[in-house]
Amino acid sequence: MTSERVSHQGEWSGSLTFFLAATGAVVGLGNIWKFPYVVGQNGGGAFVLTYLLFVVLIGLPIFMSEVMLGRRGRQSPYNSFYIIASEDQKSRRWAWLGGMVSISGFLILSYYSVVGGEVIAYAVRAASGTFTNQSADGVKSIYNTFRDNPEALLAWHTVFMVITCLVVSRGVKHGLEKTVKILIPALLGLLLILVAYTAYTGSFVNGASYMFDIDFKKLLFARNEAGIYILDSNGSYRFTFKGILTAMGHAFFTLSLGVGAMMIFGSYLKREVSIAKVAMSIAFADTLVAIVAGLAIFPIVFTYGLSASQGPGLVFTTLPIAFGSMYFGSLMGTAFFLLLFFAALTSAIALIEPTVIWLVERRGMTRVQATAWAGIACWLVGIISVFSESGVTLRRIFYVLAGFLDIPDIELSHQIFDLTGFQIIDSVVTLVMLPVGGFLIAIFAGWIMSPQNSRDELNLKNDLYYKIWQALVRYIAPALVFVIFVSGLIEWIYKYLVYQPVM
Ligand code: TRP
Repeated sequence: MTSERVSHQGEWSGSLTFFLAATGAVVGLGNIWKFPYVVGQNGGGAFVLTYLLFVVLIGLPIFMSEVMLGRRGRQSPYNSFYIIASEDQKSRRWAWLGGMVSISGFLILSYYSVVGGEVIAYAVRAASGTFTNQSADGVKSIYNTFRDNPEALLAWHTVFMVITCLVVSRGVKHGLEKTVKILIPALLGLLLILVAYTAYTGSFVNGASYMFDIDFKKLLFARNEAGIYILDSNGSYRFTFKGILTAMGHAFFTLSLGVGAMMIFGSYLKREVSIAKVAMSIAFADTLVAIVAGLAIFPIVFTYGLSASQGPGLVFTTLPIAFGSMYFGSLMGTAFFLLLFFAALTSAIALIEPTVIWLVERRGMTRVQATAWAGIACWLVGIISVFSESGVTLRRIFYVLAGFLDIPDIELSHQIFDLTGFQIIDSVVTLVMLPVGGFLIAIFAGWIMSPQNSRDELNLKNDLYYKIWQALVRYIAPALVFVIFVSGLIEWIYKYLVYQPVM
């Protein structure tokens, strides 16, 4: 049975515009800011390989499922699940899944916007020549001074959020389609120039081999980690699930899965378009940008003796060094951070869209009202991440509270107190909510929706392809997600809430 529903919000003009808009949504800070630092923190090549495997086995089938469900339902994730479940006489409570995934997107945007604000600030700095002839230490101290300044971060966070809301309030279709057509190729072009530059000047080979040399010891064992198997406490290597779980979480994050964004984008997609083909090209483009970003960044890390595992600041402390010493560096730097800003913006729009459409459909708001409410709420949650950037950990918050309440000498030795609000939101979303959302979406697409309807909506050329997709969403993806998620979660709880390092 073919569905005749249409979206109230309009349609993409064709498969190319869908490809570009969805690529705009998946390519973002995840590829250029996050990917290099999670690779660095989890030991390089083995992490990259594991991540690629997850993209193919889990990411692609779930990506196809989201687009398919969105196109079938033609409404917000909440309503789409409701409609499809009713159509197949299944429980309408599945609609809650649509609500949950929309919240994940909202939470991601809260910190995404803070980093997006940092990117705008860096575009301004590059334009004013701040990085010209700076040493590696100079660039680093510029970054640290910047992060220690909550007022500035808050101001840039506000700027980013306001711009996002302005675009969203006008509707995704207009403007967005046109912008991504220019921006995505431009971003890729600039990244290639940067790679060429690092290939020519620095330790390109060291950087590349860091990403492609596969050494599973680095992924699976860590020093001073409270892994599942605590053998002793003298700091020797221990087995840990953390790397595998992070690779899986990143596959979800970078493909924008588990937040309903691809469902919303799918709801504007014409029926004739082949979901499988377009999904594969999007996943390919996304991976390509991430790898190229790594090839631009790691050589600089090695040339200047920086640390690959330093964390979220990696992009902000590596590329400016290159911009500072290359010809036309200020121009290149400005262009690069501007494009990164646009990449972040096209993602931010998709992150908040499910919540906005939900408010429009369920609360009867206009698009502008819905955007304003969602935007203000998200901005407020983002303030947590603003303070986290300047190093406010849970321990500091508790000490301040204890001071107020006159509680003497509380002892906070569990490692969870070393985390900042930003780290907690990011790990709860990427390591818990996205996998859980993705798992349930796979279950819904594979088991709840009738095969007759999913076969019709996917409309694959060959029934064998359908069978492969079905096996992936029914068995392989849910099983992998489940096992990795549960092991990772147990380990996380052990590490942060049970284990107490000797101080
Ligand atoms: N994929 C985006 C990036 O790599 C981040 C992201 C995660 C996202 N979930 C999303 C973007 C949902 C849009 C919609 O930066």
